Amino acid sequence: MDRGEAFELLKKHLKNDRMVKHCLAVEAIMRAVARVLGEEEETWGLVGLLHDIDYDEVGQDPSRHGLKALEILEGKLPLHALEAIAGHNEHNGFKAINPAAERLTHALRAADHASGLIIATALVMPSKKLAEVKLESLLRKFRQKDFARGVDRDRLKECELLGLKLEDFLATALEATNQVAECIGL
Ligand SMILES: [Fe+2]
Repeated sequence: MDRGEAFELLKKHLKNDRMVKHCLAVEAIMRAVARVLGEEEETWGLVGLLHDIDYDEVGQDPSRHGLKALEILEGKLPLHALEAIAGHNEHNGFKAINPAAERLTHALRAADHASGLIIATALVMPSKKLAEVKLESLLRKFRQKDFARGVDRDRLKECELLGLKLEDFLATALEATNQVAECIGL
């Protein structure tokens, strides 16, 4: 599946505009991280773009989130990509069998929560613009546990399992998100 087909499929399943924007932000982060790590950028980008494709259908049921996505995407992405999407939600009992899924899963979890932190930080800036967000603000908001409670700091720190320091990972993620600021309305 190419990127155009993937985006069409995403929009067919996901009608929630805020979630589509979240997926675009995670895609941008995944592509940038893949470039830093020398991984397959196209596959990592598609994983970011499609990871929440089942949100409208099962968003309220954490035991099915990721598993329903697996059904929708079966045969459309390589196995390790499907496994990373299913495994990014740690509440559905899914266990990957392909070793290549492991790094991709850590990257996706970290990118998912980095996107949440970056967008929440942008929204508390006086201008509500991403361009105003500095790396220092992100690190401060990361440490402030009562800020954006939906951002799971432990999941974000899975970037360290890829050999990337939190600070460097967030710098890459912030730059990548800035590149799609217009698409995501920030
Ligand atoms: Fe997500």
